[in-house]
Amino acid sequence: MNKVIAIDGPAGSGKGTLAKLLAERLNLVNIDTGAMYRCVALATIDNNVDITDTKKIIEIVNDIKIELTLDGKVFLNDKDVTKDIRSKEVTAIVSPISSIKEVREKMVYLQREIAKGKDVVMEGRDITTVVFPDTKYKFYLDASVEERAKRRYKENLEKGIDMSYQEVYDSIEKRDYNDMHKEVGALMRTDDQIYIDTTNLTVEEEVEIVRKIMEGDKNE
Ligand code: DC
Repeated sequence: MNKVIAIDGPAGSGKGTLAKLLAERLNLVNIDTGAMYRCVALATIDNNVDITDTKKIIEIVNDIKIELTLDGKVFLNDKDVTKDIRSKEVTAIVSPISSIKEVREKMVYLQREIAKGKDVVMEGRDITTVVFPDTKYKFYLDASVEERAKRRYKENLEKGIDMSYQEVYDSIEKRDYNDMHKEVGALMRTDDQIYIDTTNLTVEEEVEIVRKIMEGDKNE
């Protein structure tokens, strides 16, 4: 059977960085599911659809084409949107859009299709609970809100996204609440996830934790 490393956690917990490194080191395909929900949010903005217009958003999602390349690029309906999906505007609406049941159903379907027959590391909010609940490798990454806001603020500066530290902090808190209180696909902790608090860890230390767990598994 193909290998699936599932990683969930809130914004800024380090999922993306860890997944990227694990993919390189363990030769896995990296699937950033947040990027897929961000594509739906961007398509909603591009089509001038209001976020309360669920019917139109479902129409958009029914026809959507999302491609994630091996080198980390994201294509929405054949257009490179790697940078656009990280904008402040997209970040502001992505969580409510990802709360729409039909949006989630389509994304979960696509995520399973993309992973078919491959060894993957997949990160998001519901990977350990909904998309691949039966995989052996389930992780929940976490860090304090302050640390996560600091990381995201720094990343934004590097990417040229203009948001103050306070704006980033508030946006993360709001998204945490929304992501943890969805009717379907809510971010949650379960007993079978391995919980990693990344507040004081380097990404190399995180990789080591995951690697040891997988090595231990091989020696059983
Ligand atoms: O990982 P991210 O911050 O790029 O994700 C953007 C949003 O997408 C996040 O606020 C919630 C949503 N999301 C989700 O609902 N389920 C996932 N598996 C991944 C992301």
